[in-house]
Amino acid sequence: MGSSSTTCLQLILGLLLALGTVAPRVEARAFFVFGDSLVDSGNNNYLVTTARADSPPYGIDYPTHRPTGRFSNGLNIPDIISQHIGSEPTLPYLSPQLTGQRLLVGANFASAGIGILNDTGVQFVNIIRIPLQLDYFRQYQQRVSTLIGAQQTKRLVNQALVLITLGGNDFVNNYFLVPYSARSRQYSLPNYVRYLISEYRKILMRLYELGARRVLVTGTGPLGCVPAELGMRSRNGQCVPVLQQASTLFNPQLTQMLNGLNRKIGSDVFIATNTQLMHSDFISNPQAYGFVTSKIACCGQGPYNGIGLCTPLSNLCPNRDLYAFWDPFHPSEKANKIIVQQIMTGSTEYMHPMNLSTILALDSKA
Ligand SMILES: *[C@@H]1O[C@H](CO)[C@@H](O)[C@H](O)[C@H]1NC(C)=O
Ligand SMILES: *[C@@H]1O[C@H](CO)[C@@H](O)[C@H](O)[C@H]1NC(C)=O
Repeated sequence: MGSSSTTCLQLILGLLLALGTVAPRVEARAFFVFGDSLVDSGNNNYLVTTARADSPPYGIDYPTHRPTGRFSNGLNIPDIISQHIGSEPTLPYLSPQLTGQRLLVGANFASAGIGILNDTGVQFVNIIRIPLQLDYFRQYQQRVSTLIGAQQTKRLVNQALVLITLGGNDFVNNYFLVPYSARSRQYSLPNYVRYLISEYRKILMRLYELGARRVLVTGTGPLGCVPAELGMRSRNGQCVPVLQQASTLFNPQLTQMLNGLNRKIGSDVFIATNTQLMHSDFISNPQAYGFVTSKIACCGQGPYNGIGLCTPLSNLCPNRDLYAFWDPFHPSEKANKIIVQQIMTGSTEYMHPMNLSTILALDSKA
C-alpha cells in the first residue's frame, strides 16, 4: 500500500472515530428508576389515568418549554442524577423511542400515583403499580439480551445505578385520603407503618433478585408541610401533625430495614436517602436556599396554592426558582437540584452508609 492510501485510510478511520461509529462509546453506567410521581418522567402519558402532568404549565422551564409528564416546572430528580453520572436522561419505559442503543442508557419505570401497596392510588385507575414496574424491568432485560447477549445484560444491570421512590402516596393517597379510610380502620398509624416497611422489604428483595446492586432508596419528605396539606388541613400554616408523625415513623424504620438487608446480603446495596432531612432544611429556612417561600406552591389555587391540581387556569408564579414547591405536592426544579446536591455530597446523616460521590468513586475502582 502506498503512503497516500495509508494516509487516506487513517483519515477515514479518524473520521469514523470522530463520528463515534467505530470506537466503542465510553459508557456511563445505566440508570433505572422506579416509583411514583416524584420520579415519573412521563410513563403516565401513555395510560388512561387522571395522574398526569402532560399539559401546561408543567414543563415551562424544561429545555423544550413543553410538558413532558414530569411533575416539575423543569427537570426532575432522575434527570439531575443522570447529569451528575454523565448520562442522557432515561426515557420512560412506555416511550416508543426507547429502542435499540437507547435501551443501554437505562429506563424509567415510575408511574405517578402508585405506592408500596397495590390498593394505593386506586382512584387514578390505570397506573403502573410496583409489581408491574418490576415485571417490566424483567421484560426490559430480555429485550436488552437480544441486543447484547445475556452476559453483557447481566453486567449492565449489576453495574447500574438504581433509584426507587415510594411511600408518600401510601399515606396521602391511601391512609389519609379520606377520613375513616379502609386502611386507617384496619391499622393504627404505627402498625400501618410497620406493614408498609415489611411490604417494601419484599419489593427491594425482588429488585435485588432482578440484578440491582446499587439502589438509592428515598424516604418520604415531610408530608405534613407540602402546600396541599397546608391548604387542606393546616391551622395557621403549621405543618399538619398527623402527617408529620407518619413520615417521622416511616423514615427511620426504612433506614433500619435497609441496614438489615445490607447485612443479610453482606454488601452495601441499598443506600438510605434522607429526603425528609433534605426537605426540612429548606422548609425550615427557605431564605437560606434562595426561596421566598416553602409554604406556597408556585402553581395552584386556594390557600397556599394547595387546593386541586396545577392547570392552565391556576395561579402561576413568574420566577419558579424562588419557590420550593412547584405544585401542591412536588418540589420545583430548583429544590430538586438542592436535593440531588445532597445525594451527591451529603454527610452520612443525609446519605447512609454513603453519598453518591463516594459510590461513583468506589465503583469506578471495582
Ligand atoms: C400486589 O399485586 C401483585 C400482582 O398484581 C401480587 O403478586 C401481590 O401479592 C400483591 N401484593 C399484596 C401485598 O397483596
Ligand atoms: C461524601 O461522604 C463522605 C463520607 O461520609 C464525606 O467524607 C465526603 O465529604 C462526602 N462528600 C463527597 C463530595 O465525597
